Amino acid sequence: MFHDFTYRAVLSATARTAWQIDDVMPHDARLDFTRPFLPEALARIQSVPGLSAAERLSLNHVRAHEYLSLFGLIEEFILPFLLDYIRDQGAGDDHRVRALLQFAGEEAKHIHLFKRFKDSFDAGFPSPCAVIGPAETIAAEILQRHPLGVALIILQIEWMTQSHYLDSVRDDGGLDPLFASLLRHHWIEEAQHAKLDTLIVETLAATMRVADIEVAVEDYFRIASFLDEQYQALRWTYLGSGMGHPKFRATLGALYPRGLARVDAALPSFS
Ligand SMILES: [Fe+2]
Ligand SMILES: [Fe+2]
Repeated sequence: MFHDFTYRAVLSATARTAWQIDDVMPHDARLDFTRPFLPEALARIQSVPGLSAAERLSLNHVRAHEYLSLFGLIEEFILPFLLDYIRDQGAGDDHRVRALLQFAGEEAKHIHLFKRFKDSFDAGFPSPCAVIGPAETIAAEILQRHPLGVALIILQIEWMTQSHYLDSVRDDGGLDPLFASLLRHHWIEEAQHAKLDTLIVETLAATMRVADIEVAVEDYFRIASFLDEQYQALRWTYLGSGMGHPKFRATLGALYPRGLARVDAALPSFS
């Protein structure tokens, strides 16, 4: 066993670190738009050429909005997944039932908290920021997959939030204090969720044959590709459709045929 996670230990940890939405984002709190919200390691703004300092800051805010929106979207499928899982497992182990219900309650709280941040963002940011959705449709697409595939995606996401915080947010003193606090409070609870996800994955897999686990892992990749579609769409819209344009190809081909061959070879990955 590569871990010593238990429902009992998670329960006692969550009892010590519990927080309320108002502790993180009081109703009258305002985001400070003169500061960045996301650390550079997550926002990746500095390498974008041709932007003024003010434009870089705005782009950082847009990235932060995107981060919150995508996490909100993800938590919208984690919550029903958990509720189904808890019901399927039934009673028996009191620590397990309580730890999983606590997990579900915390995800509902995160969804609520992220909406409160988005409201504050919308009130202070000059342009509306649209997001993909609706969340229920995306959740339905993901939840039709094998439960072990869904559990693996959730496991990956919850560990990911740990490295986001530890590797970049924790030591960045220049961020808006409210946003940094949101990321810190989220990280605290996600640390316990990742342990519960590990136990869920192990429980689901315990009664499965290797061939069924293979099917579930296939589904994990299907979900990953589905979540990547937004990125692929942008890649096609802003690069692939240009690379494949006959006029562009004609010019490049006349200029340097080997260049056109390279573009042709690269085109499938931009489609
Ligand atoms: Fe969360
Ligand atoms: Fe979580």
